[in-house]
Amino acid sequence: MMKPLVVANWKMNPSSWREAKQLFEATKKAAGKAKGISLVVAPPALFLRELAKGRGGGRIAFCVQSAHHEVGGAFTGEISMREAKDAGASYALVGHSEVRARGATNADTGRQVSAALAAKMRPILCVGEANRSPSGAHFGFVAAQLKAGFENVPASKLSDVIVAYEPIWAIGGEETMSPREMHEMAIFIRKTIVETHGQKGISVRIIYGGSVNEENSDEMLRDGDVSGLLIGHVSVDAGRFSVLMHSLANEV
Ligand code: PGA
Repeated sequence: MMKPLVVANWKMNPSSWREAKQLFEATKKAAGKAKGISLVVAPPALFLRELAKGRGGGRIAFCVQSAHHEVGGAFTGEISMREAKDAGASYALVGHSEVRARGATNADTGRQVSAALAAKMRPILCVGEANRSPSGAHFGFVAAQLKAGFENVPASKLSDVIVAYEPIWAIGGEETMSPREMHEMAIFIRKTIVETHGQKGISVRIIYGGSVNEENSDEMLRDGDVSGLLIGHVSVDAGRFSVLMHSLANEV
């Protein structure tokens, strides 16, 4: 089994460098007690370089929450994958639903996945539908997101890409989708990648995100057919995150 991957997506938190340092110290402690887990922290980009300096024996990896596909140029307000890599990020979230809601398209995600790979980072392509429909239209929606995101990924690079399935309706609360439904979606995700990229697609790492907390994380990892979790609001609550890491460590 792959070592489980936990991605702590801090989003636009906390609001000061002082608090970011404190949160990171607590996060490092929690990681130290969960050696069987690979931890990736996605802080606001402004904090990346300084936090990466204190990564704690190299056991924590860093992730940029969003970056542009161009290497440089007149893109006010943006940062590039290369800049993020230079600041210490080795992973890149691509197409998080909150970024898509601000206008990022499927075509953008395809370019960003390529740019992350070109910068020698591992893209975490986020996919997920806003609503579920009894007719199963959400499967088609997710398939289109996957096809666009993987469009320029050669088979030789498949194992560098991670898929984060995050149903939008499950983000920001306290209840995940059921692990059984996640299992079904994981099979669908693999099948879709195999269709476009061949048999190697079966080994792409899939992680789940959306209201993961200290109570439900172990069950999702055990029964959801995923090998990792993307954690939002609970990752910026040091106490809850520590309990979560501890419960996962007991699971692996
Ligand atoms: P949440 O966020 O854990 O707060 O639901 C997950 C995410 O949006 O990545």
